[in-house]
Amino acid sequence: MLKLGVLASGRGSNFQAIIDSIESGYLDAEVAVLITDNPDAYAIKRAEKHGIPHLVMLPKEHPSKDAYYEAIAQELKKREVELVILAGFMRVVKKPLIDAYPMRIMNIHPALLPSFPGLHGQRQAVEYGVKVSGCTVHFVDEGVDTGPIIIQAAVPVYDDDTEESLSERILRQEHRIFPYAIKLFAEGRLSVEGRVVRIEGHKKEDFFFTNPPLE
Ligand code: GAR
Repeated sequence: MLKLGVLASGRGSNFQAIIDSIESGYLDAEVAVLITDNPDAYAIKRAEKHGIPHLVMLPKEHPSKDAYYEAIAQELKKREVELVILAGFMRVVKKPLIDAYPMRIMNIHPALLPSFPGLHGQRQAVEYGVKVSGCTVHFVDEGVDTGPIIIQAAVPVYDDDTEESLSERILRQEHRIFPYAIKLFAEGRLSVEGRVVRIEGHKKEDFFFTNPPLE
């Protein structure tokens, strides 16, 4: 069974989607630990409710950013975590963690990368005036939201959308594609060639997520 380590900074609805996917039997995995950089994160309550160990780790308790990510890597290795999940972790992960888990860290981003990387992907899409946006699950490299793309889902952007309404529409897709991407990893179906991720035995159904019917 795949051991996951989840990093989250806030609400943790993606974390919850992963927990639900495990509990329903959709995903053959276990969350070994939740690590958060925010002592008030609602994600902690979710961990407590589901008996998942959690740690609050703050950058200011470490001499440098590298030392912080080294400490996180150690906690994950100690628990034999195989795949690291960034579920609304609002920091740019640094080299010590990436080197400890090469192509073994997945992030969810609320835009169709490479459009609108960084913070507030949904607001950027509304302000730019795109007609389609969505979400992306990708492996994490040293850039900001630049790593190899695993799965994307698209949603329409309406004229009267606000950051909030678009975020809500995108979030519903996030909760579908993140567990799916983890499932593909758990089944050993993902391989990375350069910056292209290939899905072994790619079936027509897999494209459902990259080309969902617009709501
Ligand atoms: C999600 O929309 C996620 O895509 C975004 O933060 C939200 C976290 O929600 N992540 C980023 O913007 C990363 N740069 P959640 O805590 O309810 O899962």
